[in-house]
Amino acid sequence: MIFRTLLFLLAYMVTNSVAVMNKQTYIIHMDKTKIKATVHSQDKTKPWFKSVIDFISEASSSSEEEEAPQLLYVYETSMFGFAAQLSNKQLEYLNQIDGFLSAIPDELLTLHTTYSPHFLGLQNGKGLWSASNLASDVIIGVLDTGIWPEHISFQDTGLSKVPSRWKGACEVGTNFSSSCCNKKLVGARVFLQGYEKSAGRINETLDYRSARDAQGHGTHTASTAAGNMVSNASFFGLAGGSASGMRYTSRIAAYKVCWRLGCANSDILAAIDQAVADGVDVLSLSLGGIAKPYYNDSIAIASFGATQKGVFVSCSAGNSGPSSSTAGNVAPWIMTVAASYTDRSFPTQVKLGNGKVFKGSSLYKGKKTSQLPLVYRNSSRAQRTAQYCTKGSLDPKLVKGKIVACERGINSRTGKGEEVKMAGGAGMILLNSENQGEELFADPHVFPATSLGSSASKTIRSYIFHSAKAPTASISFLGTTYGDTAPVMAAFSSRGPSSVGPDVIKPDVTAPGVNILAAWPPTTSPSMLKSDKRSVLFNSLRYLNVLSSC
Ligand SMILES: *[C@@H]1O[C@H](CO)[C@@H](O)[C@H](O)[C@H]1NC(C)=O
Ligand SMILES: *[C@@H]1O[C@H](CO)[C@@H](O)[C@H](O)[C@H]1NC(C)=O
Ligand SMILES: *[C@@H]1O[C@H](CO)[C@@H](O)[C@H](O)[C@H]1NC(C)=O
Ligand SMILES: *[C@@H]1O[C@H](CO)[C@@H](O)[C@H](O)[C@H]1NC(C)=O
Ligand SMILES: *[C@@H]1O[C@H](CO)[C@@H](O)[C@H](O)[C@H]1NC(C)=O
Repeated sequence: MIFRTLLFLLAYMVTNSVAVMNKQTYIIHMDKTKIKATVHSQDKTKPWFKSVIDFISEASSSSEEEEAPQLLYVYETSMFGFAAQLSNKQLEYLNQIDGFLSAIPDELLTLHTTYSPHFLGLQNGKGLWSASNLASDVIIGVLDTGIWPEHISFQDTGLSKVPSRWKGACEVGTNFSSSCCNKKLVGARVFLQGYEKSAGRINETLDYRSARDAQGHGTHTASTAAGNMVSNASFFGLAGGSASGMRYTSRIAAYKVCWRLGCANSDILAAIDQAVADGVDVLSLSLGGIAKPYYNDSIAIASFGATQKGVFVSCSAGNSGPSSSTAGNVAPWIMTVAASYTDRSFPTQVKLGNGKVFKGSSLYKGKKTSQLPLVYRNSSRAQRTAQYCTKGSLDPKLVKGKIVACERGINSRTGKGEEVKMAGGAGMILLNSENQGEELFADPHVFPATSLGSSASKTIRSYIFHSAKAPTASISFLGTTYGDTAPVMAAFSSRGPSSVGPDVIKPDVTAPGVNILAAWPPTTSPSMLKSDKRSVLFNSLRYLNVLSSC
């Protein structure tokens, strides 16, 4: 029936003068065989998606004045369908088309965010790192925030020619030329149409309109997967050693799908589709959302298609632990990866005026502070957020020269340190709530600062408020140590059982995911604070989630 309508409506001229309010981007999944048969029975010269768009456009314009649907992407490799901005009316007409399977509203997903090879028992010349295992030419496609192409981890000295089967491209954009790719970084592409439809135009003072990485996460994940072996890498001397991708002989193709506010599903699908067509062997994604039934989860759908074409898909489980059933990316054909600690840590020692000592963690490298007055929520302005050390909440007169205890939450951990430092404080102790437990964060603070677990935090609050007349504390920084019990699951790592398919055990595997030293863009400060003017080649990430502030 619809084919008759289709023909009939083709005679109409489309009027797209009136903007429609309720438009949304949808990812449309189609049955390839049915839709091709449908379309070919009508007009063999027109691409199938054009016929579909024309049909819904004309059908809806006949009933009321509507803007034509805007086509964002056509998917033909890892799944069959397209992404378009549609009104409710147009969505209804889509339903009438033989071969239509589903329409999933687009959404923004979030990023998930040296020593690991040794910890994993990877040794030069042996096992997975034997010459024969490393010899095959593997191309890893990384979907993330882009890449810093000049980084030493991505230089191509000594590498053989790019495999001739590779069909990828090095897309030109802001501060990114086609010569940014080489035999190591074999491709770089950008996907932003879905993002711009939902989050607005990319702010070019904050990000590059190209595959160049302004956030650091993509550079970090790409080098963790396949960065060169770089000797003498460290973060200001901490975590020193060789930094190396887990498969350092592989090639990298960067697909930038994540921007300041997240990663649009429609862009991710376009990237997976393109990456499979380009010829990647492996796809690596450290991003996601909450678990959905597979038929509603477009990453699951696209990775099924990718898997059918022989591409291995590896995704992070997420950073929503420790509650159960928080894992995402749980389709059975995806390798879902959890995060755990290695035996390496960056300990600090906090000593109170009463002699009590606690172990904390920090990537700050500097001298021990002296025993200084310790204050908490110390604001004459009765700022409700002073205990969180938010922007402008601290009173310099009361904080100057002291150590400030700050609760986690609201603003970033390094951001609290920045606030205390700007108010004239001499140090900061970051307190965990009961829920946050004993998880210790090693953050690249800009001044003497450390995190503490929840039981130490509880003791410190009580010390400040109930026992001490003049509370004091000192913080010392003990460098890099090895030999902790490991692996231990990170509390933040999302947990099984899978909420949508509990019969499949998820996550599948765990891997070092805490304090991993890897490549970092030189123009992005390690703490990601504007006031932090440090530039590093390597940064140690616990994990990174651009939307999370604590
Ligand atoms: C699946 O997606 C459809 C279309 O967006 C939605 O109506 C439905 O509620 C979703 N189902 C689940 C279980 O998420
Ligand atoms: C552009 O890239 C170069 C590296 O080629 C870098 O040094 C420079 O800072 C970048 N420019 C901007 C404006 O970010
Ligand atoms: C872009 O970001 C800069 C820096 O944060 C901000 O000052 C500016 O207003 C933003 N521009 C737009 C159009 O949002
Ligand atoms: C190793 O790195 C440190 C710190 O960046 C530097 O001081 C030292 O000279 C380097 N050593 C070698 C052998 O390159
Ligand atoms: C806040 O600072 C004042 C002056 O330094 C001090 O007397 C008071 O004990 C502090 N209060 C807290 C809760 O730290």
